[in-house]
Amino acid sequence: MALRLGDIAPDFEQESSEGRIRFHDWLGDGWGVLFSHPADYTPVCTTELGLTARLKEEFTRRNVKAIALSVDSVESHKGWIQDINETQSTTVNFPILADGDRKVSELYDMIHPNANETLTVRSLFVIDPKKKVRLTITYPASTGRNFNEILRVIDSLQLTDNHSVATPGNWQDGDDVVIVPSLKDENVIRQKFPKGYKAVRPYLRLTPQPNK
Ligand code: BEZ
Repeated sequence: MALRLGDIAPDFEQESSEGRIRFHDWLGDGWGVLFSHPADYTPVCTTELGLTARLKEEFTRRNVKAIALSVDSVESHKGWIQDINETQSTTVNFPILADGDRKVSELYDMIHPNANETLTVRSLFVIDPKKKVRLTITYPASTGRNFNEILRVIDSLQLTDNHSVATPGNWQDGDDVVIVPSLKDENVIRQKFPKGYKAVRPYLRLTPQPNK
């Protein structure tokens, strides 16, 4: 069955371009982004992995580790990493799982047989420090993902985990946020949001981002 938000991300052991990985141990107590791509030495995947490497600082700042996956071999990954480094002006600084036996692909439902019988689609999972799945996205092989959007969602998750807020559509870090509808007590609201808030409707209350 497909993984759902709030599920514990399944643990596994698998080979990678950086050696054997025990997933939960590798995650440690930080956040993780696990993402699959259809195959090595393909153009869109090359750009995606280059982008992920170039965003290393942004991931680290948020306490997030990235890990990629395809069903190709460790040897294939290692050769392709040289190509990614050369063509994308970067150094791949995260592991790529070599899921030849489809163990992880099946655990995470990354092969969608009606799209492709053997290759993984572009699945992505954001996993929190409690190992819970917090975001799932699935893109087709022909469309590269927007990794700035992944960072934006992680910003939102990390903010909303710690404050009684949610983030509006197209929200970017630093924009106003909304107070969660369940919070009704004016005294608590004043305490939590000393900068005040604007009630556009009783259920739509905007406030400056509390951690800025
Ligand atoms: C790519 O990464 O470029 C790609 C992979 C599979 C199908 C189409 C494109």
